[in-house]
Amino acid sequence: MSQAVEYEKLGEIAILATNNPPVNALGIDVRNGLWAGIERAESEGARAVLIYGEGRTFFAGADIREFGKPPQDPLLPALCDRIEASPLLVIAALHGTALGGGLEIALSCHYRIAVPSAKVGLPEVNLGILPGAGGTQRLPRLTGARAALDMITTGRHIPAPEALELGVLDRVLDGDPRQIGLEFATELLQSNAPRRPICELPAPEGIDFDAAYDTALRKGRGQLSPAVAVRAVQAACEAKSFADGLARERQLFHDLLASDQRKGLIHAFFAERAVSKLPELKDIAPRDLHQIGVIGGGTMGAGIATSVLLAGLSVTLIEMSQDAVHAARDRIAANLSGAVKRGKLSQKEHDEILSNRLGLATEYSALGTADLVIEAVFEDMDVKKQVFSQLDDVCKSGAVLATNTSYLDINEIAQATRRPGDVIGLHFFSPAHVMKLLEIVVADQTTLDVVATGFALGRRLRKVSVRAGVCDGFIGNRILNTYRTCADHMVLDGASPYQIDNALTEFGFAMGPFAVSDLAGLDIGWAARKRKRAAGFDSGVRDSSYADKLCEAGHFGQKTGKGYYIYEPGKRGGVPNPDVMPLIEADRVAQDLTPRVFSDKEIVRRYMVAMVNEAAKVVGEGIAHRPLDVDVVLLYGYGFPRFWGGPLKWADIQGLPQILSDIRRWSQEDPYFWKPAPLLEELVAKGGCFEDLNT
Ligand code: CAA
Repeated sequence: MSQAVEYEKLGEIAILATNNPPVNALGIDVRNGLWAGIERAESEGARAVLIYGEGRTFFAGADIREFGKPPQDPLLPALCDRIEASPLLVIAALHGTALGGGLEIALSCHYRIAVPSAKVGLPEVNLGILPGAGGTQRLPRLTGARAALDMITTGRHIPAPEALELGVLDRVLDGDPRQIGLEFATELLQSNAPRRPICELPAPEGIDFDAAYDTALRKGRGQLSPAVAVRAVQAACEAKSFADGLARERQLFHDLLASDQRKGLIHAFFAERAVSKLPELKDIAPRDLHQIGVIGGGTMGAGIATSVLLAGLSVTLIEMSQDAVHAARDRIAANLSGAVKRGKLSQKEHDEILSNRLGLATEYSALGTADLVIEAVFEDMDVKKQVFSQLDDVCKSGAVLATNTSYLDINEIAQATRRPGDVIGLHFFSPAHVMKLLEIVVADQTTLDVVATGFALGRRLRKVSVRAGVCDGFIGNRILNTYRTCADHMVLDGASPYQIDNALTEFGFAMGPFAVSDLAGLDIGWAARKRKRAAGFDSGVRDSSYADKLCEAGHFGQKTGKGYYIYEPGKRGGVPNPDVMPLIEADRVAQDLTPRVFSDKEIVRRYMVAMVNEAAKVVGEGIAHRPLDVDVVLLYGYGFPRFWGGPLKWADIQGLPQILSDIRRWSQEDPYFWKPAPLLEELVAKGGCFEDLNT
């Protein structure tokens, strides 16, 4: 018998209890144990079998770590068929999350009971695959094709009461899963309830699957798995037999399993879980956090305060004048009302936060009791130093002093205090109460417990926290600066902003770089260019005037209705602004440049290769400790397509040697293309950025 599944016989009922922490994933041991348990129950004369999970959950799915490795019998589909075919009455008792292969096991049982807090779902599409153990065939037979498609193409976790209504569960009952399972099994035996294999139910009625396929493809923005899953559900309705439907599901599952998107999505799954596990913090306790100070109540400060309040902590926000205090309060109140509208907060909680947990003041002395203060004032070194010197005077000993700067030198900021060990960067992304990414920027003297406190706050705020070192732009903005510059250079050389945006949205980015500039406000780039011109432009960057001309005419992008695109109120997205190309052409003439034709493929390749090269520099210089840190930053802060896993996973999938050779060639042909990052050669010799291509 397998170690992971314990067999017990209680009268006529055999109990198969799985104990495979942390989430009872259906690895080979569990599959062996369940198979052997069913056989033993049949041979020992049991009349029913109860399957449940010990610990925090029923099976949370197949063991994802096994994907991409040689398969080991019994495979999950065979196990599901074996359970369903058993002559005994098989009952599943669910708690926690019955997901993917976990729900597929439950669907091959003849009856399903769950505790009210349980959730069920088929989230495989989020890993680039589809339910491959009969889920696409059995679920629609219970719920109908439309509800099954919704569950399978979105991967949504459905609460037990909704699953009961949909027909996925037979009963929902409070209690311990083993206990409610045993009571249900006993009742079924007493009433001589029949076996109920779903495979014997009639095929569900079909819907317009071509339309559903197109919708899934559009919503997936290049991600294939939801659309392919539609075809598997179609087979449930149209195949000649249940077995034929299963075979079609299997074939589609294998196609996806072999895809690059599967590799990218599974990499993203493990990378986002690994990112906040830092070996140096293993035994380090964070400092206590109750009262958080925020300095500055603009969009960023108000967003940070909102995020902290939503996490249940108290905030004291400092602004310079009473008017600014009122404006900050209004911004926070508007953010919180948005949370009420989205169902994330009740009106009562909203009112309680505003009256009891948000304090506003104009004097720094109000921060005397704060455990951690986050500064979100104007990006200017002198201003920041003044703020930190004042914080040093008023904050209690042991308070963490954090700056939300996006690019300034945090070592220099820390020197404005007598306690540089307590100073850290907490770089939020706007809107801070919505965006998941938090860069935790560790300065030279930041102590380990302050770093641990940054990660503890990130966890509390439900952010994806990534450690970064100090440099201009840290991980994300530094890499952004490079690939954005690459796009600007391609425009001067002959590509149009619209071709670049289209090529990159086709690649999978939510928006192209020029549409992003319109969203952020063209005045931001304008101010940065003015600063750079004053400081003397970096020799690797080419200056241009077309974007300045747009700004001089008062066109700052979405907020003024015109930028690279023209926006109409109430309409999503914009149409190309006809004034832009003549400005670009005039710039090319002024700079004596002869435009050339770029293919979409070359645009994507240059942009991505520039990104990978800068990412390798960031890792090589120790700004990011691991390649996966870069990938997670780009995925969560910059709209990088998740199905590519991040820029460095993309590089591995495409082949790092070829990327290095492109960088070498382009940097020889084009004086403005970047020289290869020294780390790249080392990574090529090691076989790639990630040792295990599966994760
Ligand atoms: N296989 C292997 N490991 C898994 C796993 C799985 N299916 N699900 C979770 N884990 C691991 C995580 O990597 C993590 O490991 P570390 O502690 O080493 O980082 C640990 O379990 C705990 O996971 P979380 O940190 O995510 O814990 P949580 O409580 O926040 O969330 C969860 C729990 C909702 C189950 C979440 O882990 C999750 O969504 N897991 C994936 C579920 C899934 O996609 N299942 C389908 C698998 S594919 C399938 O089943 C294919 C098929 O049809 C044949």
